[in-house]
Amino acid sequence: MPARIIPVSSGKGGVGKTTVATNFALSLSRYAPTILVDLDTGTSSVRNTIDAPVSRDLYHFFKKGYKLSDCVTTLPPSLDPAGEYKNFGFVAGPLHLIEEITNFDDRRKRQLQDAINQLPATYVILDMKAGVDANVIDFLPYSNSGILVFTPFLPSATLAASDIVKAILFKKLRIVFAHESPFYARVPDGERTKVLINDLLDRVEDVYDTALPNLDAFLTDLAEALGPHPILEAISQTVEYFRVFYVLNLFNGVTEIFDTAIKPFVTNLVSNVSERLVLTNLGWVVRSDAIHRGNCDRRPILLTPRPETKAGPGATERQLDQIIRETLGLQVEKARKPVLPLRKPPDAENALGNQLDVLRKMYDRRPGQIDDPRDNFEYITNRAVHLLNHARPSEFGMPRIATKEEILKAFVPRG
Ligand SMILES: Nc1ncnc2c1ncn2[C@@H]1O[C@H](COP(=O)(O)OP(=O)(O)OP(=O)(O)O)[C@@H](O)[C@H]1O
Ligand SMILES: [Mg+2]
Repeated sequence: MPARIIPVSSGKGGVGKTTVATNFALSLSRYAPTILVDLDTGTSSVRNTIDAPVSRDLYHFFKKGYKLSDCVTTLPPSLDPAGEYKNFGFVAGPLHLIEEITNFDDRRKRQLQDAINQLPATYVILDMKAGVDANVIDFLPYSNSGILVFTPFLPSATLAASDIVKAILFKKLRIVFAHESPFYARVPDGERTKVLINDLLDRVEDVYDTALPNLDAFLTDLAEALGPHPILEAISQTVEYFRVFYVLNLFNGVTEIFDTAIKPFVTNLVSNVSERLVLTNLGWVVRSDAIHRGNCDRRPILLTPRPETKAGPGATERQLDQIIRETLGLQVEKARKPVLPLRKPPDAENALGNQLDVLRKMYDRRPGQIDDPRDNFEYITNRAVHLLNHARPSEFGMPRIATKEEILKAFVPRG
């Protein structure tokens, strides 16, 4: 069974999910057995970027009764002559569009989730399709974002990435606070609370209702209506402990990427979701012809030998460890005082300043030849491995894709 399942998603298409997911999974497999699953089931994108003969794919899983673990393809010697990536495998999407596999129903979704939860690998990376619908959101963790990819070159995709965060948080709140939820039996004034919360959730989710723009405003209104109540801390923690991870694709300079990608992303998260989320930048990938050519030639950049270059002044492992520690912001363990938000306009300044500091630190002290995309992926992977070793499963990735019932069970109100 996987130690962690990490989805790579973006909301909008064409920003580099498959490129990031594939090379990240390859790079991660040098640390521990890793399986990449192509969940963009309509376009079979992973098999189109890896030139490996596929003998079984999701068609065989869904239609021929094979176990998912029997549908894993490994790399042929032509792609991996030295066996460096022998711990990498991928599950390909079906060869052609097959309606019931591409847009699977709840039964098939559950079947696939169960099978992913059983895959024989330490790490499972999911290459998601574009969109923010249930067939994407239901494969994402409920207490962090997985890895979000966006780029300065597609502003609407930046907004879509922050919509994913909103969708995950609302999915969890909708499950926990559904009318039939056992939660209400355990809190004072259950009936009234139920009506109030669901009404407020409807209003926050409705983007046209500007009076209640985000979860901070929602908590303030709830506090006014309920007074001190265990539910307030429960919701407040759901938001404060939520972790957002992102990778910037098509990096074009610190100032540029900050202004055209990070700023709109953070501003949108703060105004539509909450200013109290913890955001973590995992790194960036430069725009590179070698990446694009690698995808077209079906040999991902990581499987392409490096050009001969003079080695740059690479950071020592200790220096790298230090940067990673300073910039990953592992702080959930620190007790945070549960603050009830005061009614005030959303303030993005704080979160933005922090993101810029981290980006500068990462950039100024980047190890070696960071302009080679292989180094970009190594850097991202180093940071991710550090998280995998030090963060709780609820903070980064997930040990299994949870059902509604499991999400409900995990949610224990304090007080
Ligand atoms: N860093 C990069 N440098 C150059 N080209 C890139 C880079 N990242 C992605 N591309 C190219 O951009 C295109 C889209 O990338 P990719 O398929 O990875 O995106 P995606 O988000 O998975 O798209 P979709 O939503 O269609 O699945 C591809 O042609 C890819 O080769
Ligand atoms: Mg893709």
